[in-house]
This record gives sequence, structure tokens and C-alpha cells, in this order.
Amino acid sequence: MKIVVIGGTGLIGSKLVKKLREHRHEAVAAAPSSGVNSITGEGLADALKGVAAVVDVTNSPSWEDAAVLKFFETSTRNLLAYGAAEGVGHHVALSVVGTERLLESGFFRAKLAQENLVKTASIPYTIVRATQFFEFVTKIADFATEGNQARLPPALIQPMAADDIAGALVRVATSSPVNRTIEIGGPETFRLDELARRALAAFRDPREVISDPHARYYGIQVSERSLVPDSDARLGETRFEDWLIQATEPVAKAGGKPA
Ligand SMILES: NC(=O)c1ccc[n+]([C@@H]2O[C@H](COP(=O)([O-])OP(=O)(O)OC[C@H]3O[C@@H](n4cnc5c(N)ncnc54)[C@H](OP(=O)(O)O)[C@@H]3O)[C@@H](O)[C@H]2O)c1
Repeated sequence: MKIVVIGGTGLIGSKLVKKLREHRHEAVAAAPSSGVNSITGEGLADALKGVAAVVDVTNSPSWEDAAVLKFFETSTRNLLAYGAAEGVGHHVALSVVGTERLLESGFFRAKLAQENLVKTASIPYTIVRATQFFEFVTKIADFATEGNQARLPPALIQPMAADDIAGALVRVATSSPVNRTIEIGGPETFRLDELARRALAAFRDPREVISDPHARYYGIQVSERSLVPDSDARLGETRFEDWLIQATEPVAKAGGKPA
């Protein structure tokens, strides 16, 4: 199958392109650096010719409220319009578990706008909502850091490896569209504060994690289950501890100094 990955140079996109090629599909990594821009429309008509499925794993360069909304609305409208004109049979979009519970944040308002555009367009679709990537856990702590302390709530979180997200997207993109949203998550549930504490310790990051039920996740007030998927979510296989051992290998090799 010919599959175009919009955002094919990003964290998820590059893993997805690699996996699709390993499964002998013709995968095209589309991004501004390869002459395909979903905001300006540059290169889109050519990129989408003869394509069975489009997978949108773009992200906005700015997460400022107005900028991120404009990015996801413009990009999604262009992908759907060019896709319909070229007869694309399946539009796959990657979104985030709990989006409708996180609308205090402009980023999630933009993701919901993206989802709604996909749902109301003419192209058959599958929306894949994933939980937070393992790769993202220390960034959550960065956002919650003041001085040498990261203040985080003990909300439940069921993160997953970016590799497992890419694997799930391969299965979705090479199957028929389901015209609904499916959820994917990690194999284990943690408390966010405890997870960040484990990650920072493993990376020899000296910051202290303070557990605070009133602390915010990315500036958003979350309840115990805001971030976790429904019970029918498909689960990835990689366990956080196994991922952490691999991810912290450079730190271990450097004799415990942060890489
Ligand atoms: N972080 C999480 O925990 C999480 C959880 C669930 C879902 N998600 C979703 O996963 C998606 C992908 O995230 P990621 O971390 O893989 O993103 P990323 O690493 O930031 O990659 C973003 C990609 O989008 C491309 N891009 C940016 N502007 C573009 C444009 N105008 N036209 C075409 N491509 C453009 C980038 O190209 P360049 O390389 O040229 O800049 C890059 O390939 C996001 O939509 C995010 O909402 C994230």
C-alpha cells in the first residue's frame, strides 16, 4: 500500500515510516523539509496522488492558544480537501486520550477542532487517541518546574512507548477505516507524580517532585481519571521500566552523569 505520513520526520512519524517500510509498504515521509507543507498546501497534491491512506502525525511549532488552533484547523482542512480531490480512501489522525476533559488548554481545544473536522469530512477516517508518550514524561515535569522542584498531581496516567504508538498506527493505516475514534494506551497505570519521580531519578535529574493534588498537568486542572483511556483501549506491550533502561543507557555509560 502507498501511505503518506504527514509529519513523517517527527518523533512518531519517523518511527511509523520505518515500520511501514519494514512491512513492505510504500511509505512517504512528508514534511516541510521534504517539500510538503500542510499549512501552505505546497506539495500536497503531488504527495497525495494514488495514496491509499494518509496518516496525520503533525504537530504545531507553537502551542500558544491562537497559533495552535490555527495550525490544526488549517492543516487538517488542507489535508482533507487535497485528500478528497485525490480520492484518498482513509484519513488517519493521531490525537490524545481525554482531549474533551482537557479543554482548559488551547492545545487540546485545537486537537478537538482537528478531530471534529476529520469526523465531518467526506473521507473515511479513523481517529487514534493515544495516551502520553514515555518520551514526554520528563517534559511534563519541565512544565511543572519552579526552581529545583516539579509540582505534580497524583492523577492516574497510562503512558506508552512512541514505538508502540507507531505500531498501532501501522495496523490502523493498513486496515479499513472504522469512521470512529479508537483509544490506545500503555500496559500499566501509574500516578503522575510517582512516574515523574522515577523518570527524573533514572536520568539522574536532581529535581525533586512534590506531590500536590492541586498542582496542574500542563497548566490544566485534572481529576483522578482525566488522562486514562476507557477499558476497551488497545494496549501497547512495552513496560515503562524496560523503556527507561534503554533510554537512560547514555546516562549509565557516562557514569551516572546526565547525558
Ligand atoms: N506528546 C504526547 O504525549 C502525545 C500523546 C498523544 C498524541 N500526541 C500527538 O502526536 C502527534 C505527533 O507528535 P510528535 O511528538 O511525533 O510530533 P513532533 O515530533 O513535534 O513532529 C511534528 C511533525 O510535524 C511536522 N510539521 C510541522 N509543521 C508542518 C507543516 N506545516 N506541514 C507538514 N508537516 C509539518 C514536523 O516537520 P519538521 O520536522 O519539518 O518540523 C514533524 O515532522 C501530535 O499531533 C500530538 O498531538 C502526542
